Amino acid sequence: MSKSIYEGLLDMAAFVLTALLAATGSQAGVAPTGQRSFYPPGLNHTTFISNASVGTFGGLYTAPASQAAPASPGDAYDYCSMPHPHAASYSLPPPVANQTTVSARLVYLEYLQRHQRRTPYNILPGGENQPYHCDNLHAHLYVAPASQGPAPIPVYGQTYSDPSNPFLATYVNGSCQYPQLTIGGFLDGYQHGRDLRDVYGDLIPSSPDEDGGKKIWLRSSNSALTQESAGGVLRGIWPDHNGPLPLHQQASGIDTVDQGFSCSAQSEILSTIESTPLWNEHLTVTTSLRNRLATMFDADTSSWTSTFDHFADNFQARLCNGYELPCRVQNQSECVTRAQADEVFRAGDWEWNYWWRNNANATRYIQLVEGLFIGEIVQHLEAVQQGTSELVYSHNFVHDGDLGPILGALGINALRWPGMGSNIAIEIWETSASELYARVLYSGHAIETIHGTLDWIPLSALLSILKPFIPEDIISMCQSS
Ligand SMILES: *[C@@H]1O[C@H](CO)[C@@H](O)[C@H](O)[C@H]1NC(C)=O
Ligand SMILES: *[C@@H]1O[C@H](CO)[C@@H](O)[C@H](O)[C@H]1NC(C)=O
Ligand SMILES: *[C@@H]1O[C@H](CO)[C@@H](O)[C@H](O)[C@H]1NC(C)=O
Ligand SMILES: *[C@@H]1O[C@H](CO)[C@@H](O)[C@H](O)[C@H]1NC(C)=O
Ligand SMILES: *[C@@H]1O[C@H](CO)[C@@H](O)[C@H](O)[C@H]1NC(C)=O
Ligand SMILES: *[C@@H]1O[C@H](CO)[C@@H](O)[C@H](O)[C@H]1NC(C)=O
Repeated sequence: MSKSIYEGLLDMAAFVLTALLAATGSQAGVAPTGQRSFYPPGLNHTTFISNASVGTFGGLYTAPASQAAPASPGDAYDYCSMPHPHAASYSLPPPVANQTTVSARLVYLEYLQRHQRRTPYNILPGGENQPYHCDNLHAHLYVAPASQGPAPIPVYGQTYSDPSNPFLATYVNGSCQYPQLTIGGFLDGYQHGRDLRDVYGDLIPSSPDEDGGKKIWLRSSNSALTQESAGGVLRGIWPDHNGPLPLHQQASGIDTVDQGFSCSAQSEILSTIESTPLWNEHLTVTTSLRNRLATMFDADTSSWTSTFDHFADNFQARLCNGYELPCRVQNQSECVTRAQADEVFRAGDWEWNYWWRNNANATRYIQLVEGLFIGEIVQHLEAVQQGTSELVYSHNFVHDGDLGPILGALGINALRWPGMGSNIAIEIWETSASELYARVLYSGHAIETIHGTLDWIPLSALLSILKPFIPEDIISMCQSS
């Protein structure tokens, strides 16, 4: 049977629409929104990097200079300011929301977050064409006797660039340290804390001093960045608190976060991981991009070209703090294009997924890098399980290099680079029948993993997922090669 003219026209219109959508690619219609942007189905493959029409796969990479970043639409992946639990999108676990299924209350929260946005770690070897401004923040560092006078003057570091310093020409002008939190990062942190207070206000003590401070545990790495973030986030949580708060840290030489303890087996297994055919394939598909950037920025060294860490770090710090992508200092008409930056970010995402999920040695790598800290979290959760926990709220200020392996241990379906302020909330719920359940949120939404969506699983099941990543004897594992 032949179609009517009218049906034919409809087919034609549908065809044109499909062609238009395909041609505009990720800019229109095709770009995934909301939670879908966290889980690119093609992330295991190097075509995710080389296929330019993937764009940013719905990810956002810009934020204003001196304001908090607006919440991303639908809580989409936002490298500059990752979504976090907030009242507008937070919902109770499905069986609790449906009160006929189960009645339960939140009894414990283990919260982990990366620091907020910042200046870069990596300055382009050929120098930077734009200054960085940080004079809108005071980087305080001083000591104060715990229980006697005198009180110190609260001095702060005021970074400046001395024109007579001959190294300035091939470094970066301005008033920042690299890295350091930016005003935008501080304000994002403050909003992050206010939103946690809104969502978890019934659980988090209204004062950190309640019960002599025994209900809370605040932990950070040794880096200034995580401490600087804590100051903003905790002010959002406790707007009326007066006085200082302890941020627990282990000694930097043996810290269990931020790769504090030394362990040669970590770098050995990383070289194994970075010598597979798949790893080399990702280098091959990015050869022309890596060569172009290396030439443009005098960056032809393996630390800049063997992974995308440095270029991605350098570019996001610009875009996430209200600046432009960099240009070559010696020729300001040679600038990084948005398409090049997008490819760098896709390659960065591919590498994070490869390191912590998609390589044959991922389990051992996670054990070596993050196993001790995973063990500390498991101890907190076991104390809740045994009914011996005085703590109700633990907040850890750490790094992407801590979030990545923990997300890998949880078995996340796809792992994009955990962006600024990315966070994991492990909620423990107690039912009216005294059973304990866990829900794990990643950047505000139940995490999607190889074990299913972790929106309501027995606490014992969560412990079974995590425990295989705790090393039995890290000291001998670190020594063996
Ligand atoms: C490239 O990406 C687009 C948009 O995600 C997708 O439709 C297309 O199938 C991809 N092409 C290849 C060769 O993977
Ligand atoms: C809520 O619970 C009832 C009783 O267990 C069940 O019949 C119903 O399907 C549930 N609704 C939802 C939305 O889960
Ligand atoms: C650094 O910035 C200052 C203030 O804007 C300017 O006077 C100076 O020329 C700059 N120096 C370099 C090396 O760009
Ligand atoms: C600067 O870069 C542009 C674009 O690549 C090029 O056309 C121009 O020749 C370069 N200028 C110099 C002086 O090298
Ligand atoms: C990607 O690889 C991981 C680990 O090899 C696997 O568990 C996962 O199912 C893969 N994801 C997809 C979408 O193929
Ligand atoms: C890494 O994985 C390969 C393949 O499964 C295995 O043969 C090798 O022993 C692993 N290496 C380490 C150090 O675990």
